[in-house]
Amino acid sequence: MNTTTAHTPRIVPDYEAMLDPAPGYRELATEGAVQLVRRVNGGLAHYAVLDYKLAQEALRSPVFSKTSEAMHFALRLQDADPANYPISGGAGAPNLLNTDGADHARLRNLVNMTFSPRRVQQLRGRVEALVDRLIADLQEQTDWDLVGQFAYPVGLTMICDILGVPQGDRDNFRHWATQSMRITAPDQKENAGRLKGYLVDLVQAKRAQVDMALPMDEQPDVLSALCVARDGGESLDADELISMSFLMLIAGHETTVGLIGSALILLDRFRDQRAMLLADPDLMRGAIEEVLRYDGPVHQTTMRATNADVELGGVRIPRGSFVHVYTMACNRDPERWPDPDRFDITRKPIGSLAFGYGPHMCLGLHLARLEAEVALTKFLHAFPDYRLAGTGGDIEWAGTVIRAAAVIRAVPR
Ligand code: HEM
Repeated sequence: MNTTTAHTPRIVPDYEAMLDPAPGYRELATEGAVQLVRRVNGGLAHYAVLDYKLAQEALRSPVFSKTSEAMHFALRLQDADPANYPISGGAGAPNLLNTDGADHARLRNLVNMTFSPRRVQQLRGRVEALVDRLIADLQEQTDWDLVGQFAYPVGLTMICDILGVPQGDRDNFRHWATQSMRITAPDQKENAGRLKGYLVDLVQAKRAQVDMALPMDEQPDVLSALCVARDGGESLDADELISMSFLMLIAGHETTVGLIGSALILLDRFRDQRAMLLADPDLMRGAIEEVLRYDGPVHQTTMRATNADVELGGVRIPRGSFVHVYTMACNRDPERWPDPDRFDITRKPIGSLAFGYGPHMCLGLHLARLEAEVALTKFLHAFPDYRLAGTGGDIEWAGTVIRAAAVIRAVPR
């Protein structure tokens, strides 16, 4: 196989803001499975990986690193200011997304249990009660915003409940959390700062109040559970706990909002699929996997930086390069999914990359699936004839790194 090295990034569009970004990804993929690109609105030059098998290869290889050292080295090569790229390691304490290898495994072992399938299933009753309340409110109205009135409260309320954010703090918390995700908001950094400050106080309060005699799975919330988490004598220190709680909050709410929103959009666009789901609610789990594959909320994994020269799919990637796996492009691989651009809820789920792959695969995938399953089942039961207002044009995108709608106007029938 010939090995090539690219020097000038190809300029590519802002895919997240498109109603249907798939054709854009497909067009890009025809130019090569691994390419050096830069977004039209700026940002870092990076290698985009657009092929399913190569994506798996990159996501399990230690050369594609997530450490702050690798990130900062790559940032320096592009003369980029680390203050503008906090997601790439930043100055924060270690968390799951800025560590590799043994350091990552230690943290992951400490938190895995809090999001295990068993623990998540114990939350079902709370999700159901919340969704019932939201649906009762929707029933009072005839003109909805399905993000603000439904998807968003599901995602945020559940993560607040799980982390143990007191009820009285939630309005502030919601404002800071939403605004700190809006990269373009003028006060984005201030709100991220306020949110971090709040989490520092919250973690300190939990550490002061926690009953150390209770085992992890009897603690009232995840933050308390993490205060007592032990793995072979190892525990999380206060900074790690703050860093991890910030990550869980950011990774765990807007993604689920995006998934529920995307499902509601797709089930409006593809009415035949909605009819099948209404006729056979057992199709729901497969339908959620298909939404994740077809248009899930994470179109790209977080950035990696190469800590050595490496070759991927015949392309030589020098040390200090940024790499993004374009999961959505990989999830339309025709060799893996016949007729990949068809939205088909009866497909056998065969493992898309929607939740990533390898050591950094999503910690919250059971929780996300549970929230989506409960929310969509109950919503369709209550409003089988709902439809989006306008012609799909009334959707406003959130403008974050997550592909999530900020507003979906809809009516009951
Ligand atoms: C539909 C919803 C979700 C999707 C599509 C999603 C997707 C992903 C993906 C693709 C990754 C891998 C990132 C990478 O390799 O760069 C990831 C990691 C992660 N996700 Fe999720 N996620 C969702 C919901 C959640 C929820 C509800 C939580 C709540 C705790 C969560 C917490 C995390 C964490 C902590 C990581 C880092 C794991 C690690 O590095 O070991 N996610 N997620």
